[in-house]
Amino acid sequence: STRSILIAGNWKMNMGPNDTADFFEQLDAESQKQIDGVIAAVCPPFVSLATAFDSRKSASAVKIGAQNVHFEDNGAFTGEISTSMLTEVGCDYVILGHSERREYFGEDDAIINKKVKKALLAGITPIVCVGEVLDERKQNRHFDVVKTQTAGSLEGLSASELEKVVIAYEPVWAIGTGETASPEQAQEMHAFIRDELAKLFGKEAADTVLILYGGSMKPANAGELLQKPDVDGGLIGGASLKPADFAKLVAIA
Ligand code: G3H
Repeated sequence: STRSILIAGNWKMNMGPNDTADFFEQLDAESQKQIDGVIAAVCPPFVSLATAFDSRKSASAVKIGAQNVHFEDNGAFTGEISTSMLTEVGCDYVILGHSERREYFGEDDAIINKKVKKALLAGITPIVCVGEVLDERKQNRHFDVVKTQTAGSLEGLSASELEKVVIAYEPVWAIGTGETASPEQAQEMHAFIRDELAKLFGKEAADTVLILYGGSMKPANAGELLQKPDVDGGLIGGASLKPADFAKLVAIA
């Protein structure tokens, strides 16, 4: 396809400022160069964002993202971070609605939808996560679940706004488990998501949207996943913490 590939590392609650500086120190300059058609990004915890931004060897190549944001501008929201704060420290991306946020922090599609709209207003690309849990797949409800999450978190967007959104399909049973969706399972769901986006926003917009796969993606399995026509990159947890693995993933893309 004509879509670029995005390799995004989700560091989760790992990598403080010192580890973040070390990561960029160890990530060789070569793999920090811009590769045509490939975008590399890392999403450190909030306190490490400024360090990541300052430590990059090539500002053009490695993009920085956050793992969450609040939907208000500022004010009495103890413990929260706004979009303007993220742009101030150089964020291009923000992960929204990760399954861990949905499960442990009570985020639902309505909240995620507000955050998506706020990120778009701020010019930050939202990486919107969707994905079923194991029971839902066993009950053959995974398509319904992902359809509801997709429609709910993107409700009210225009087609041109949709084009600025990245989707990440992360089957919850594959996250941190070592168990990956097969390339066929990933492709099947990615094509389904693109089809749903086409119904909601038109085919033209849907065809531009990057749909990432997430869930135990690593150098050993990334190649076959990324070969699938609707797999436009990866949202990578564990394997993105090591500079060598991250560099390999970017090279495979
Ligand atoms: O956002 C990333 C995913 O939750 C995948 O995590 O690569 O450690 O399985 P993982």
